[in-house]
Amino acid sequence: MIVLGVESSCDETGLALYDTQRGLLAHALYSQVAMHEEYGGVVPELASRDHIRRAIPLLEQVLNNASVPRSAIDAIAYTQGPGLAGALLVGASVACGLGLALDRPVLGVHHLEGHLLSPLLAKERPEFPFVALLISGGHTQLMRVDGVGQYELLGETLDDAAGEAFDKSAKLLGLGYPGGPAISRLAEFGDSGAYQLPRPMLHSKDLNFSFSGLKTAVLTLVKKQTVNICEQDKANIARAFVDAIVDVLVAKCLAALKQTGLKRLVIAGGVGANRQLREALNDAAQKKRFRVFYPELEFCTDNGAMIAFAGAMRLQINPDAAKRDYAFNVRPRWPLDELRVV
Ligand code: KG4
Ligand code: ZN
Repeated sequence: MIVLGVESSCDETGLALYDTQRGLLAHALYSQVAMHEEYGGVVPELASRDHIRRAIPLLEQVLNNASVPRSAIDAIAYTQGPGLAGALLVGASVACGLGLALDRPVLGVHHLEGHLLSPLLAKERPEFPFVALLISGGHTQLMRVDGVGQYELLGETLDDAAGEAFDKSAKLLGLGYPGGPAISRLAEFGDSGAYQLPRPMLHSKDLNFSFSGLKTAVLTLVKKQTVNICEQDKANIARAFVDAIVDVLVAKCLAALKQTGLKRLVIAGGVGANRQLREALNDAAQKKRFRVFYPELEFCTDNGAMIAFAGAMRLQINPDAAKRDYAFNVRPRWPLDELRVV
């Protein structure tokens, strides 16, 4: 079965073809980062309009790259939520319009389920059950994953998401959007001991997070620089920020593994691309004897492949999950625990 995946929940248009026999056939992505950069963040209306421009050319691209005709598509999976309402509507209407035209069933996929399952697209696939740390621009959650659709929330952020903390702190340092990769690169030049930032909720004895105080601490440090902040100081602050957030993320992962007794950890979502976090987790995995799995770097951030794959997994469990009902309805807010497969 070949599933077309359509992702348009934020600022990336992603299309992909996943074949349950042969694996990922092709995927194509257009990132709107350059367009939103000048506004310092995603402008929802511009995002929606750009998804409209990109979706069909990207569809042609994946069909060409996979050398399959449109008629080879058996089902279409699209991101139904959570995300920006207008942006989601574009993907949903493209998916449902294609479904109607090709007489193929469609299936709304949860964006975070796409992220959660994305490490299964890698060569080295984790087996169930595992602990998953989902760290994206909008979410920070620790989950126990027993199978497709079997997710138990262990802890989550009480305020800002990890990616949001990266982006906001980067903005305070005058770095571009998205801030995650920029602050991570700058931190490489920073001196670890120069500044100390708090590790929020490190000893909270639960698996929740809080990152808004960390961003405020970065703001306080930036404000303390009376003259223009020099490049080395910026790098030192970036380093202190990355050290603090990585410490908290690693500590909570270890606590989740201990609490569940599991030995497999999966990292998903855009912040999972972070180099310092990967280094720290790999070290911890060696010392504490657990295994850590990551999606391929290109599938850490938003993409169509994870949506095609999550759709295909859902259809393998329940072939009736996709319907020839083209009256779509997006879900900008959609708790992941509503997804349980019975
Ligand atoms: O998963 P994603 O692409 O989109 C959402 O679903 O939110 O995640 C985007 C987030 C942004 O906040 C971005 O700054 C962050 O992931 N990010 C990173 C890195 N690459 C992307 N954060 C830290 N280090 C990175 N290398
Ligand atoms: Zn995402």
